[in-house]
Amino acid sequence: MAKLKSKYVCQNCGYETAGYLGKCPECGSWASFVEEINTPAKKDEVFSGVLETLPPMKLNEIEMNSEIRMSTNISEFDRVLGGGIVLGSLVLIAGDPGIGKSTILLQTSGELCKNNKKVFYVSAEESASQIKLRAERLGVKSDSLYIYPQTNLELIKKHIEDLKPDLVIIDSIQAVYTSQIQSSAGSVSQIRECTNSLMQIAKSQNVSIIVIGHVTKEGNIAGPKVLEHMVDTVIQFEGDKYKTYRILRSIKNRFGNTSEVGIFEMNSNGLSEVINPSELFLKEYNQTQTPGSTIIVTSEGTRPLLVEIQALVGTTPYPAPRRVANGVDTGRVLQILAVLEKRIGLNLSKQDVYVNVIGGIDVNEPAADLGIALAIVTCVRDVVFDSHTAIIGEIGLSGEIRAVNHIEKRINEAQKLGFKKIIIPEANDVQEEFKDIKIIKVKKIIEAINRGIIKCNN
Ligand code: TYD
Ligand code: MG
Repeated sequence: MAKLKSKYVCQNCGYETAGYLGKCPECGSWASFVEEINTPAKKDEVFSGVLETLPPMKLNEIEMNSEIRMSTNISEFDRVLGGGIVLGSLVLIAGDPGIGKSTILLQTSGELCKNNKKVFYVSAEESASQIKLRAERLGVKSDSLYIYPQTNLELIKKHIEDLKPDLVIIDSIQAVYTSQIQSSAGSVSQIRECTNSLMQIAKSQNVSIIVIGHVTKEGNIAGPKVLEHMVDTVIQFEGDKYKTYRILRSIKNRFGNTSEVGIFEMNSNGLSEVINPSELFLKEYNQTQTPGSTIIVTSEGTRPLLVEIQALVGTTPYPAPRRVANGVDTGRVLQILAVLEKRIGLNLSKQDVYVNVIGGIDVNEPAADLGIALAIVTCVRDVVFDSHTAIIGEIGLSGEIRAVNHIEKRINEAQKLGFKKIIIPEANDVQEEFKDIKIIKVKKIIEAINRGIIKCNN
């Protein structure tokens, strides 16, 4: 018998070598190599499913299927998917353990079944009775929802062929294994092989598949980038442990917009949609404001969100002052502080600065700059910013306010929530007319300060 050949595979990035290495030359992670047995692919098996169903076609002759998307009945989930689940697509939902991945997919299954779709839920982690318990809690009842506790991919494949479901859910990809290769479930080779097989099933049988993937301690999708490259859509499930709301964010989508978000709240009977998230984030916003608080309009995907930024500045007891940023990038805050110091003479070298985004959401776009700067300025000067004014604008290094994208949508959202004024960059061209909100265009930080600060706090 021929000797079995083995290889060492980095479990972080999938890099392969013949011998063991302590550090991966590709991604730099330590002790990430695991020995795996080489299993040569049988020639006739490779891509057979794909070859059968996809002969070369002329573009003009391809017929568009009218119903290529399947609505989940959960509009926030549909929005993230780009309008529904595309038939024959492979979607990855990744998130921390316990965030609610199984919950949302069981709810989605229930909704699809109401529309007479057949759903095949493969549970590789939980027993059938555990799923039943969750279904009772969520109020999911259906005749066309099939639960299958199984980890073997070959058996799963067989049942997909027999059942011909509209949607297959694999919970989770890390727990599934194929007997074609010999490494253990959850290793890079297994994940790659299983995902590949699932992709072929999706494309050849025109069935949509959603796979759940866990996230590692470092926040990467376990078993890792290779998985992201292979699937059609990657959706990240995020949330704050201390808050009840959860955010679904599309980070890759072959059939729709990326960075689109859907917002949910986790209750005792599952996840419910948050139709107006800005209201949620401004729930505790105090109209009689304190110094150091401003409202910005950030844009998540194509959706504008109003969030409150707070800053606290105080004399430091340390030789080097502290800069702490929660929900915004610390580097960005440092840059804003440098601009404030140089352009408007705000001296913060003996002051600690804390910046916080209320509600636990992350705001990573530069359009939040001006709001952060004004929160800091009002705190330092102990004045309040007009509580009916929202702020948008990126700050350049010379103190100029730069244009941002989706300006009209942002203004609209502020108007909808009852804001009377909005400060925007002069460089932005606003085509639409807004009746209930006054638009203030500014070129420099100093103008924004002069237009927004209304009174001293004492
Ligand atoms: P789950 O969907 O099992 O998470 P995942 O599959 O991502 O690991 O969700 C588990 C958490 O959600 C658990 O901490 C309990 C909570 N939860 C609720 O608060 N309400 C509910 O109705 C359900 C089903 C779960
Ligand atoms: Mg789960």
